[in-house]
Amino acid sequence: MTLNEVLYILLIIVELTFLIGASVYIIFLIYSWLKGAPYVATRMKSIKTILENTEITDGQHIVELGSGDGRFLIEVAKQYNITGVGVDINPIPLLIARLRARMQKIHTVSFHLQDIRETDLKKADIIYIFLFPKLVNKIKLQLTKNTKKGALIISHGFQIDYLKKYHTKTVEGDTFKTYFYKMS
Ligand SMILES: C[S@@+](CC[C@H](N)C(=O)[O-])C[C@H]1O[C@@H](n2cnc3c(N)ncnc32)[C@H](O)[C@@H]1O
Repeated sequence: MTLNEVLYILLIIVELTFLIGASVYIIFLIYSWLKGAPYVATRMKSIKTILENTEITDGQHIVELGSGDGRFLIEVAKQYNITGVGVDINPIPLLIARLRARMQKIHTVSFHLQDIRETDLKKADIIYIFLFPKLVNKIKLQLTKNTKKGALIISHGFQIDYLKKYHTKTVEGDTFKTYFYKMS
């Protein structure tokens, strides 16, 4: 086999690997979308603004519903002595979240493959959400009946209509607003 032939085959392998990777990514993107929200990450700049506007104390437990690549929880765990759980239905961002946490030596947060409709919120002091309202409407009972008194619910991008009476503030962002709700 000539060098050119070897290069040709290598190129085909690279192209096929890329195509398969991209297809798997797109399939899971559509899957996430069908399940309630596609994977779109909160911008790091927005996370900074949200954290500047959130009172977080040592020992608090944070749950992220639809945790994507884990950037929010990992950033909080870097700055505060908290514990955290992120759940996501899409195994690809979930894998990235686990790898990111491991690479950054963050051991106080963990990421799980789970539908948010099955997530236990009773122990959460703070709940972070960046999801379409249609999906958030499906967890009305969990958010209104199964959260701690005093729990803070942070919704990036979308208001949660059924939590209107708990609304405490809205923080402006460069792309999306963030809505804060304090349960009582
Ligand atoms: C808009 S992204 C937000 C990602 C992350 N929270 C962030 O702010 O960077 C929404 C995430 O929710 C996940 N998701 C969609 N429907 C879900 C469901 N029913 N249960 C769990 N996760 C879901 C998607 O896979 C996606 O990663």
